[in-house]
Amino acid sequence: MADKDGIPDTQNYFVDIPLASKPYTLRGSNSLDWGCKNRLSKIFQPETGRTVMLTIDHGYFLGPTAGLERVDLTIVPLLPYADTLMCTRGILRSTIPPTFTKGIVLRSSGGPSILKELSNEEIAVDVEDAVRLNVAAMAVQVFIGGEHETKSVHNMTRLVDMGNRYGIPVLGVTAVGKDMVRDAKYMRLATRICAELGAAYIKTYYVAEGFDTVTASCPVPIVIAGGKKLPEPDALKMAYDAVQQGAAGVDMGRNIFQSEAPAAMIQAIRKVVHENLTPEEGYDVYQALKSGKK
Ligand code: R5P
Repeated sequence: MADKDGIPDTQNYFVDIPLASKPYTLRGSNSLDWGCKNRLSKIFQPETGRTVMLTIDHGYFLGPTAGLERVDLTIVPLLPYADTLMCTRGILRSTIPPTFTKGIVLRSSGGPSILKELSNEEIAVDVEDAVRLNVAAMAVQVFIGGEHETKSVHNMTRLVDMGNRYGIPVLGVTAVGKDMVRDAKYMRLATRICAELGAAYIKTYYVAEGFDTVTASCPVPIVIAGGKKLPEPDALKMAYDAVQQGAAGVDMGRNIFQSEAPAAMIQAIRKVVHENLTPEEGYDVYQALKSGKK
């Protein structure tokens, strides 16, 4: 039974101290609802405004990708170093320990395999399942210039509407067809369209020329994909150049899990993203960790 007697008088009203209303500083996100901001804070570290997302969703169209044959053995040990994990619900339920409390970004579109036209995707998750899985965001592929451009944009806008009902942000993933030019002009087009149509943040590829114009013209955070496996120094340089030119972090897969030393690589990437280490300093960290000197 609730206590009714001996309840202390209230007195700590601090009447001369106005209630602080602090802005939410993540780019373009201040007007989002509390739940959305809270979920984004499980992705973008509040201290740096940046993220190291580890992405392992490749199997949704590639099947058992090199480095992801046994997620339990190769990826689970990397989880302590990731701010966020991007994966499918199948891998999440089957293999990722539910004690993982950082952000999950759920792959939410799919359909065609590598054997078919990839832009022909559908929404592949019910938003109620995303709620059930307690995810921090839903990710959807957007094929600007692709054969099924309109359908993929429509997948994204529907997910944004569903996500808005529950406070779940949507990550728009700009997929560049193999016949398209990967330049700043294309990335500006694709990222801006995703932002205009409601994506809370955007994943795109780094381009060597004019990447700062891509981040400048996109009103929400941009994270870069790693792309094909590069030598470690080159991948660290790409991450460095991207964040120095306005990216809010990386959503990196193959350049981490296909590295000779994945745990060393993700820790080196963290240093570059969150502590602004140069690529050379990052590579020193990588080598020291790889050789067990750190
Ligand atoms: C995009 O198509 C998917 O999310 C990929 O599975 C992922 O982005 C690839 O990441 P990475 O290029 O770093 O291996």
